[in-house]
Amino acid sequence: MTTAPTRPLFSSRLGFIMAATGSAVGLGNIWGFPTQTAENGGAAFVLAYCVLAFLLAYPALMAELVIGRHRRANIVTALGGLNPNATLRLIGCAAGLYGVAIASLILAFYSLVGGWMIAHTLQPGIELIASTVNISADLSTSVEAGTTWLTTQTPWRDIIFCSLFMTLTVGIVAAGVGRGIERWSTRLMPTLITLMIVLMIYVWSLEGAGEGLRLLLVPDVSRLANPALLVSAMGQAFFSLSLGVGTMLIYGSYINPDASLPTTGAMVTAIDMAIALLAGLLIIPAIFAAQHLGIVIYDEAGVLRSGPGLIFQTLPALFKTMGTIGQVVASGFFALLTIAALTSSISMLEVPVAYLEENHHLSRHRAVAIASLSILSFSVVIAIYFNVLFDAVVNFTTEYSQPLLGIVLCVFAGWVMRRDHLLDALGGSDSRLFNKIWPWYVRFICPLLIAAIFIQNLRT
Ligand code: PFF
Repeated sequence: MTTAPTRPLFSSRLGFIMAATGSAVGLGNIWGFPTQTAENGGAAFVLAYCVLAFLLAYPALMAELVIGRHRRANIVTALGGLNPNATLRLIGCAAGLYGVAIASLILAFYSLVGGWMIAHTLQPGIELIASTVNISADLSTSVEAGTTWLTTQTPWRDIIFCSLFMTLTVGIVAAGVGRGIERWSTRLMPTLITLMIVLMIYVWSLEGAGEGLRLLLVPDVSRLANPALLVSAMGQAFFSLSLGVGTMLIYGSYINPDASLPTTGAMVTAIDMAIALLAGLLIIPAIFAAQHLGIVIYDEAGVLRSGPGLIFQTLPALFKTMGTIGQVVASGFFALLTIAALTSSISMLEVPVAYLEENHHLSRHRAVAIASLSILSFSVVIAIYFNVLFDAVVNFTTEYSQPLLGIVLCVFAGWVMRRDHLLDALGGSDSRLFNKIWPWYVRFICPLLIAAIFIQNLRT
């Protein structure tokens, strides 16, 4: 194993697990997973997701962790230096640069959405304060205008809150791997889980919630034959585990050399899945509780409202029916989404930052400034040309680029990296069976399966 002594490391295995699950658990789990589940017929999607997460996403995650730990470098240097062959070096560097670009593009749209979450956290809080203190009619009209502005999508609102979200991300990443990323992930992850459990218990006590639980837990197996469901489940699993763009690779490069990777990676996958399920158990029953209160949960075509309609209309309408406590719940819910987004966005920013620091010899602060300002400029462009750009950037990065890069990483781990380096990087004595099966699996099965589902995606 090549070890550069000056590189930072997570202080412990727990520190890595917090940071990696912080990266994995994000808007993809709390918003994306319940939305996709609702769109794809409930439990059948959950089943497909769980199977694909362990059969495809976990082995691909291991490929990133192994390469990161072996090379102890960012994705460009890591892939470019796995094999001395000049062509392979070139392909590796190019794929690495593509990964850095995709991580940055994901952050460009993700920070816009993170900004929406901050605005929606503030709105019920301001309304609550305004309703408890005695204010004049004029002031009350201004407060109303202000809160409407906060929840109405306009380029200015988006740019202001996206900048705020990016500032928080920058603050954490600039503090470094241990004092920034690890420390904040370790603080924010338990907060996130506690908030989710409290909200879930509350939602379950509402009438109508049971119907949502049924949708989530009783599968309609005939839907599993639908290839579109498999494509969505794989895309969701790759996005959720932050794969393909070098995030897990760079975190893998900061892991303590003694930790065994197979169990550590399995824990990250399991926690990510558990939190997605928890989010499903919170949001889907909430949709049906809303219906019970007379809120429209289906659109004109009779399809369950999902995506922005679900988060920004159905759920706030539910919270509104609950009076004062509803405003607290609403603020708590959007704070939850903001925290989840933040522990993921720091991992995305670390990808270009580590590359600039290591390959262009910039100081951490300078690297953070250059990367974040370039990404923020792109977010501004997306905010201005939202209707044209937003969906296009999301699809290009998550549906096409992440699986493609996933194949590249599996191929590099399986074919380009030397077998003894691979086994050495896996580490630990509890991984003997894994060490026999996985190198073979990541060589043949993983790239072929990802490619098969990817091609299916292109044809639909
Ligand atoms: N895993 C994050 C989520 O589920 O929201 C999204 C993500 C994070 C994607 C980091 C890519 C990445 F590099």
